[in-house]
Amino acid sequence: MPAPRPGRVLVGERALRSRIAELGAEIVRRYAGEPPVVVGVLQGAFLFMADLVRAMPIDLATDFVRLESYGSGTTSTGQVRLTHDLATSIEGRDVLVVEDVVDTGLTLAALRRTLEARQPRSLRVCALCDKTGRRQVDVRVDWVGFTLPNVFVVGYGLDYGGLYRNLPHVVVLERI
Ligand code: PRP
Repeated sequence: MPAPRPGRVLVGERALRSRIAELGAEIVRRYAGEPPVVVGVLQGAFLFMADLVRAMPIDLATDFVRLESYGSGTTSTGQVRLTHDLATSIEGRDVLVVEDVVDTGLTLAALRRTLEARQPRSLRVCALCDKTGRRQVDVRVDWVGFTLPNVFVVGYGLDYGGLYRNLPHVVVLERI
């Protein structure tokens, strides 16, 4: 069987650009006068975060966490480890978590618990992609860029075996 490779484009560059502009404008309206600390989840969110914050012309702060789920393969195990923590205190702050994709929801649920324990004033989430059909735990996502079908996607930050994050669009991984 051939190795999986990036195939058909699911979300192209133009669609990404215009949806991210919309998201940025909506988010800025929500935080009127009180810019949030924007927390990117490494590695997947790095490109989306870079474009989203540039669509948010307010005095926001940025920080990053890195999470790893135990186990291998293409699905989460639910056991999530924080391998890089925030540099800033979020107590009493408005926090916007930026994710590339919410799949089972296990990673985001664990991250929410960790961050909520630090007593931010608010905690909201913006995810570029949401695979609602794969959800195992109910987790709140405040803004979603694109709801995707249950297909494995790479590009625009998303990887397969560490590759393809640098593709400028979201594509389906296919055996072609
Ligand atoms: C991906 C993605 C989310 C998580 C979503 O991260 O960035 O954090 O999986 O999956 P879930 O909803 O099933 O928990 P991954 O662990 O692949 O790490 P990466 O961001 O470094 O690619």
